[in-house]
Amino acid sequence: MNKKKKLFELRKNYTQGGLSLHQVLPDPMAQFNLWFEQAMFAELIEPNAMTLATSNALGKVSARVVLLKEVDERGFVFYTNYNSRKSQDIEENPNAALVFLWLELERQVRIEGKLEKVPPEESDTYFKSRPRESQIAAWTSDQSKEIETREKLFDNFSALKEKYKESQIPRPPHWGGYVLKPSEVEFWQGRPGRLHDRILYVRNDDNRWDRKRLAP
Ligand SMILES: Cc1cc2nc3c(=O)[nH]c(=O)nc-3n(C[C@H](O)[C@H](O)[C@H](O)COP(=O)(O)O)c2cc1C
Repeated sequence: MNKKKKLFELRKNYTQGGLSLHQVLPDPMAQFNLWFEQAMFAELIEPNAMTLATSNALGKVSARVVLLKEVDERGFVFYTNYNSRKSQDIEENPNAALVFLWLELERQVRIEGKLEKVPPEESDTYFKSRPRESQIAAWTSDQSKEIETREKLFDNFSALKEKYKESQIPRPPHWGGYVLKPSEVEFWQGRPGRLHDRILYVRNDDNRWDRKRLAP
């Protein structure tokens, strides 16, 4: 029973699969899509949840979870408030890292690269696809700023709901997407006895991907 165990006694042996340099696909985006499909097929909760780590100009690091909303040849897209703490970091330093943890599959994917804003039209298209309530919420919340009470948030929400009750809700200028353009992608598969498999892809000077095995 986990409840009675001490933290240091929690231990799981990983046995579900393996990864070899020859078995993985040559392009890490294709390999990511394959693993993502498998995470979807396994019906994991929010398989598109990923930890995003950023750092400000002084090298102070912060991390939070965001949702992957698009993955294509450019990289990994998520949406957020352009005035948030993370966006302030990104203004100062575009280098960032992402981590997906698919524990039920004993898998982790780590990605490093640079962040860029997606074109405004792309943010518009995604914003239009969101439920109305989420669209209003994007206007309501001054993300990462201190607020006095939860009620103020609700009052704000209600006022905006009223304002837009008979019209389409435009995308707030301070809300949109970022794409992380990867320079490194690592696939981790848990193996028995802590001898895990790690395959790292690194983008080389010819814009192609080299891959190597790392020690666990
Ligand atoms: C499962 C999950 C999904 C989330 N998705 C997003 C998201 O897509 N975009 C976003 O801005 N915040 C998202 N958040 C909230 C962020 O973790 C974070 O609280 C927020 O972006 C403010 O971060 P910041 O102050 O570091 O900028 C999510 C949180 C969780 C737990």
